[in-house]
Amino acid sequence: MAREFSTVGVVGLGTMGAGIVEVFARNGIDVVAVEISEPALERGRATLAGSTDRAVAKGKLAVADRDALHERVHFAVGLDALHSVDLVIEAVPEHLDLKQRIFAELDRVCKPETILATNTSSLSVTEISVATSRPNQVIGIHFFNPAPVMKLVEVVRTVVTAPEVVADVEALCARLGKVDVTINDRAGFIANALLFGYLNHAVAMVESHYATREDIDAAMKLGCGLPMGPLALMDLIGLDTAYEILDTMYRRGGRDRRHAPVPLLKQMVTAGLLGRKSGRGFYTYERPGSPKVVPDENTPPATDAALADGARAIAKVGVVGSGTMATGIIEVFAKAGYEVVSVTRGAEKSAAVCEAVKTSLNKGVVRGKLAETDRDAALGRITWTATLDHLADVDLVVEAVVEELSVKKALFASLDEICKPGVVLATTTSSLPVIDVAMATQRPADVVGLHFFNPAPVMPLVEVVRTIRTSPETTATARAVSAALGKTGVVCGDRSGFIVNALLFPYLNDAVKMLEASYSTADDIDHAMKLGCGYPMGPFELLDVVGLDVSLAIQRELYLELREPGFAPAPLLEHLVTAGYLGRKTRRGFRDHSHR
Ligand SMILES: NC(=O)c1ccc[n+]([C@@H]2O[C@H](COP(=O)([O-])OP(=O)(O)OC[C@H]3O[C@@H](n4cnc5c(N)ncnc54)[C@H](O)[C@@H]3O)[C@@H](O)[C@H]2O)c1
Repeated sequence: MAREFSTVGVVGLGTMGAGIVEVFARNGIDVVAVEISEPALERGRATLAGSTDRAVAKGKLAVADRDALHERVHFAVGLDALHSVDLVIEAVPEHLDLKQRIFAELDRVCKPETILATNTSSLSVTEISVATSRPNQVIGIHFFNPAPVMKLVEVVRTVVTAPEVVADVEALCARLGKVDVTINDRAGFIANALLFGYLNHAVAMVESHYATREDIDAAMKLGCGLPMGPLALMDLIGLDTAYEILDTMYRRGGRDRRHAPVPLLKQMVTAGLLGRKSGRGFYTYERPGSPKVVPDENTPPATDAALADGARAIAKVGVVGSGTMATGIIEVFAKAGYEVVSVTRGAEKSAAVCEAVKTSLNKGVVRGKLAETDRDAALGRITWTATLDHLADVDLVVEAVVEELSVKKALFASLDEICKPGVVLATTTSSLPVIDVAMATQRPADVVGLHFFNPAPVMPLVEVVRTIRTSPETTATARAVSAALGKTGVVCGDRSGFIVNALLFPYLNDAVKMLEASYSTADDIDHAMKLGCGYPMGPFELLDVVGLDVSLAIQRELYLELREPGFAPAPLLEHLVTAGYLGRKTRRGFRDHSHR
């Protein structure tokens, strides 16, 4: 029989604590909610009221249930109020000495059988537990932000946590409607160990002006389907908390430089820019605590006119290539009303691409998304040829041939001879330096990367890659064209992986390393990222879809260009590729897909 928890205590009513109070009270459990001072207590009370009022307004909580919820919460200043609770969850700032002091005090104040839990994200639960005389009753219960919404709880057992305490807490999580993964005490547990290197890397991109906050966030939302971009997430977590978590993970987690907090973060914390809770972090909010972003001096002008600033007029587009990407790109441009010249290496290939474009457009008609007349008009805008010379009068060329530098360079040298002056020459490369391609021409200022995602007709993102020679007009044109295609063009520098792959693949590689170290299972890791962070797929699901060979190749490129030791491909990934386990396409990757 699992232990009954009728009253729990929550210490610290900040970003996490206030949400944790709500989770318990919503599930019929009485809560003693404790803060350090009256003003802090008032803030906590207001946060809880704000959250439950929003739930009522959205129709997710009945008025009577809200009132009953509030009646279950007793607010108090000081730990003495916790003398008769069955469980305490501590959610004070991420400092070991503070937490140890609080646990020593809780040990003195609470009943001998009370379980003492910490919501720490990165500190050692073991080190916190030894500040008490009952380390076997100390455990980590790590909720995710916002606690009332996110389904995951990481339950962290130390080497001395009693098995029945673990079982009782697991049963409690189930009662709260949460999904728990139980793991050992290691810096960052599952989710944060995989998340924070990525968040820190995104901050480094802002710091180095590699891309803007808006573009980085849009790239990860639209390119990977994440619920929010990394910088908006930093603001939600709180920059002070994020700093402490990174700092602890750096020190505890083997001094991985990717966890060394980017200097900009420290500066922002010192300047009081803590994220949503202070009303300003990477973004500016309507007021402290508000989720609503308001424009500030860094907000880009939103109008199309501004997009078109300096952009050249584009009416006719050449697309070179006959693969998946070229086919999708031809369709996208033709549908958007551009005249398209498709260039392949022969009539047979042209016929195949033409067939593929027709098939795809027909699917749109069958699904009721495209009128027959629009399909016919789109097809009528495309001319098919095997002769590059037919690109003499286009305004934009998009190259989507094989991913080999020598082939692309030779093609760009030819384009340079054939195309009229002022044409924008774009490459869709996903891994080669755009500058190498640009320097094969006499007009590197007109060369830009246009990195479409697969399938091009569906994915809403285009990365616009500017080299150190790309002119502002060329970049503006690429961005305006992306918008005209109904896509979001995000601008970034010419570095391996651009924005999306540079942020995504090291995270996937880290997940493989975590599996390899037997810290957790593929299922639990996938669960943690989906339920704790709202990702549409877990890392192993995604790796099997993308292909392990493709993922390994991208990771190798990142490692070779940036020489970051943490980017070294996980040996397990290499072995699976060597063994021919490439993911869904070979029916086996991290999982066996032969029966599905
Ligand atoms: N922010 C997140 O997204 C997140 C997610 C999961 C876990 N965590 C962890 O939760 C914990 C709290 O983080 P947060 O972001 O809520 O911090 P926060 O700064 O928003 O809130 C901390 C609260 O603790 C109170 N406090 C400080 N000293 C106290 C004391 N002696 N007694 C009682 N209350 C005290 C403060 O007044 C403040 O309200 C940290 O360990 C953090 O790592 C944070």
